[in-house]
Amino acid sequence: MSKFYSLTKSVNSIPLKWYYDLNHFEKEQLKIFNKEWIYVCHENNLKESLSYLTIKVSKVDILILKDKLNVLKAYLNTCRHRGSVICSNQNGKLKNNILICPYHQWSYNASDGKLLKTSSFKIPKNFKISNYGLKKINIKIWNGLIFINLDKKIKWKIKNRFQDYNEIVNKLNVEKYEVAHRWKKIIKCNWKLFWENYSECLHCPNIHPDLTKLVPVYGRRMVDIKDDPNWKKLKKIDHPKFQGGLRKGAETWSLDGSAHGKKIKEVEQSRNFQGFIYITTWPTMFLVIFIDHIRVVRILPKTNSETEVSAEWLFPSDTLKDKNYKIKNVVDFSVKVMSEDSHACELNQQGVYNPAYKTGILMPEEYEIKRFHDWLRKKLI
Ligand code: FES
Ligand SMILES: [Fe+2]
Repeated sequence: MSKFYSLTKSVNSIPLKWYYDLNHFEKEQLKIFNKEWIYVCHENNLKESLSYLTIKVSKVDILILKDKLNVLKAYLNTCRHRGSVICSNQNGKLKNNILICPYHQWSYNASDGKLLKTSSFKIPKNFKISNYGLKKINIKIWNGLIFINLDKKIKWKIKNRFQDYNEIVNKLNVEKYEVAHRWKKIIKCNWKLFWENYSECLHCPNIHPDLTKLVPVYGRRMVDIKDDPNWKKLKKIDHPKFQGGLRKGAETWSLDGSAHGKKIKEVEQSRNFQGFIYITTWPTMFLVIFIDHIRVVRILPKTNSETEVSAEWLFPSDTLKDKNYKIKNVVDFSVKVMSEDSHACELNQQGVYNPAYKTGILMPEEYEIKRFHDWLRKKLI
């Protein structure tokens, strides 16, 4: 038999308690979010020197800025005096290369985090100013996308970093793309339910009526034609339902299926391109490469039962220079799909608080969820 993806038997899901238990949530913060590379945003969100933004990972507030020399830096956004937050806005611009705590005005050099001055009339003899700089956070720019890691010891390694990876991303000059639209939503679900929903298409026909028309294989409740043990035989049938990809005549994920002539050459020319390529890195990011744009999605847990999902739509700048081009065509389509998924995740969360059941069960098509759970279990040891 040709190789297929499905699980060959049903397997237990993770305990339902893991979707709401506060102790478990704390454990995940320590063992996963404080150790993994966390996606922040496309670097063009910090275009100008002295611009900054803040992000909360677990409860830890982090400050990311572009210093006067246009170098990106990341620090713990906590003053070394008595712990006030330093930049309290989500984003903004510094007046100069100095960070000043809003509480008692200790000041720090934005380029290296060193404490410059306290506000006390006298510096005690035992106080060593060099011991009180801001703590630096590891930062990595990958194809124009900013990642941070709270654990200094964890190196960025491309191998094993992504659950699915495609070399094409390195040919696109993503760092030059413009962020043309942003979208954010707090979904009332545990972060793991977001990833589980992302990993299967059993829900697709009834949750995503338009998407299943655009991607016919999703209408078969499959994410990939290879989910079917007979896929090789079925592939001979001339229909995207069996061959994968978009419906005939469609070019991209958009309301009318058209890319309106804005095709990215490197994507168009890539071998076996079937309308979209997913690249995923747990626990906080996935991106999708389409023929005309890239959508990057960030997943950040807010509480045990709330998850912030934010998306950025990236376009080559030439596309955006064309005044007749309407990004709404692609943005509205994806927002609809993401809103439908949010609703599904919330339904899921509402049902998990039930002491009568210990766990759910994974069916053959949910092999990717199994992979996610295996990863999770390993991290939580
Ligand atoms: S807490 Fe920042 S100066 Fe006092
Ligand atoms: Fe979905």
